[in-house]
Parts: sequence; C-alpha cells; structure tokens
Amino acid sequence: MKLDGCSAVITGASAGIGRELARQLAGRAKLLVLVARRRDRLEQLRSELLRVNRALQVEIREVDLSNLEQTVQLAGWLANERIDFLVNNAGLGDHGSFATADPIRVNEQIQVNALALTALTRALLPRMIAQKRGAILSVSSSAGFLPLPDLAVYAATKAYVTSFSEAIRAETRGLGITVTALCPGPVHTEFAEVADRDQQMRKVRTSLAHVSVEEVAGAGLSAIERDKALAVPGTAMKIVMTIVRALPLAVLRAAWRFSGTRKMYAK
Ligand SMILES: NC(=O)c1ccc[n+]([C@@H]2O[C@H](COP(=O)([O-])OP(=O)(O)OC[C@H]3O[C@@H](n4cnc5c(N)ncnc54)[C@H](OP(=O)(O)O)[C@@H]3O)[C@@H](O)[C@H]2O)c1
Repeated sequence: MKLDGCSAVITGASAGIGRELARQLAGRAKLLVLVARRRDRLEQLRSELLRVNRALQVEIREVDLSNLEQTVQLAGWLANERIDFLVNNAGLGDHGSFATADPIRVNEQIQVNALALTALTRALLPRMIAQKRGAILSVSSSAGFLPLPDLAVYAATKAYVTSFSEAIRAETRGLGITVTALCPGPVHTEFAEVADRDQQMRKVRTSLAHVSVEEVAGAGLSAIERDKALAVPGTAMKIVMTIVRALPLAVLRAAWRFSGTRKMYAK
C-alpha cells in the first residue's frame, strides 16, 4: 500500500523504532496516532513532527498495553477512526533464565508483544477490509525464528507475531490489505536497557549484526509499500537468518548444549 496520505496508529511511539517510524511518516501521513505510556515523550514527538509538517494531525493516546482494560478501550476507540495503517510496534524483552524471571514481567511481555497486538489487529482489520485499503506492520524480531534460551518468553512471543502476521496476510490476500512482519536483529534503542535484568545485554555494544534504527524503520515502510510478507533489515542479518531458518532443530540443540557446557566451565 502506498503510504502517502495514510492515517496511521503507531504503538510504542515514545522511543526507538516506533518513534523513528513516526518521524519517517511525518512528511507523508495525514494523521498519526501515537500510543505509549510516557505522555511527555509523545508530546515532545508531536511538537517535533508538527515542525516537519504543519498540516499533519497528531493524536496522543497514553495507554499501558500490558493492561487489558486500557487495551480494549484503545481498540474500541480506534475501531471507529478512519485508520488505514496499523503499526504494532510496542514490545519488551527480559533477559535471563525463565526460572528466575519476575512473573509480572513474564505476563507483561505476553500481554504487550502478543495479546495487545492481536486485539488491535482484530479491532482495525474489519474496517480495512470494508474500505478495501489497509496495511498492518507488526514489529516482530529475528528472535522469533528460533527458540532462544535466556530470552525464552520474548522469542516465543515474537514467533507468535511472525506466524500470526503470515496467517492474517494469507486470509486477506486479494482484499487490498498488506500485512508485513518486520524482523530486525539487534538495534540500538532502549530495548536492551529495559530487558537487561542480568547486565549481560549491555555488554554487547555493537556488532556486524546491528542495524540503525533509521534503516529498520525504513525497511519496514518499504516492505509495506512493496507488499512484502517479511522484512529482515541489514545484509548480515539477512544472511545469518537465512542460514538459521534452514537449520534443523537438532543442530541448534547441539549448539546450546555446547554453549551450556562452556558456561559451566566459565564459572
Ligand atoms: N532493539 C532491538 O534490538 C529489537 C530487535 C528486534 C525487535 N525489536 C522490537 O522492536 C519493537 C520496538 O522496540 P525498540 O527496540 O524500539 O525498544 P524501546 O526503545 O524500548 O521502545 C519500546 C516502545 O514500546 C513501548 N512500550 C513498552 N511497554 C509498553 C506498554 N506496557 N504499554 C505501551 N507501550 C509500551 C515503549 O513506550 P513506553 O515505555 O513509553 O510505554 C516504547 O515506546 C519491539 O516490539 C521490540 O521487540 C527490537
């Protein structure tokens, strides 16, 4: 779908990839609905976007997507708006063993990464189908391509997002709707800080696999305009993920056994 003149809702617009998506859409969209918990950040972003495009309409919705009632309220409000582009971007991780995870943080990941995304998609899709025009960009992750020890719940929620996105894409073929899963590898945002329970993620400063937030957002919007099912930004990540996705699970299990043994010797 061509994004010029679109009316978009972006969850998780207060930081990182969501904020950059809003910036890249500012000169092209008619309406942007910015959703997150930190209202001050959203207000700052609104001022910035209006400086770029004075004709842009910007709505702010302060919503905690880990709260079912707030999510349902947002979904109900959005269902009556003329939204033709849904960006399911809000998300969070939690790095460390599942056995020691805070149960509240476990629920929060499932609620924000999977349940809220599902509720918003369900709320907006019928109008898109009726209008024969719409697009849904769900920010998944390369972590969704394989089970990941120490990011078990996060990777599982992202496997859900990628699978859900593909299925909704198949259901809506020929109806004028584009559905895309964006699957970045590591990106420098606040994500690692939020997920960094055991101070391990912060150690990874930069790597060949890291892609800039600008490139990730650009790849997502371009995939929507080219009607792609899936986008993995960055050449290195594309190559690595093509290999990873072709590997039998037995090979991954052997690699985890080996890295587990190394962890034990390192103690
Ligand atoms: N950074 C990476 O390495 C990476 C890699 C692959 C995929 N991703 C995915 O990219 C997406 C964006 O992440 P990011 O890297 O941009 O991280 P980020 O900088 O931490 O931004 C996360 C965004 O999600 C919002 N959010 C988190 N919990 C929320 C809640 N309970 N209710 C409403 N909004 C909530 C945050 O807003 P408030 O805190 O203001 O609510 C913030 O705007 C996520 O889905 C993430 O899984 C990130």
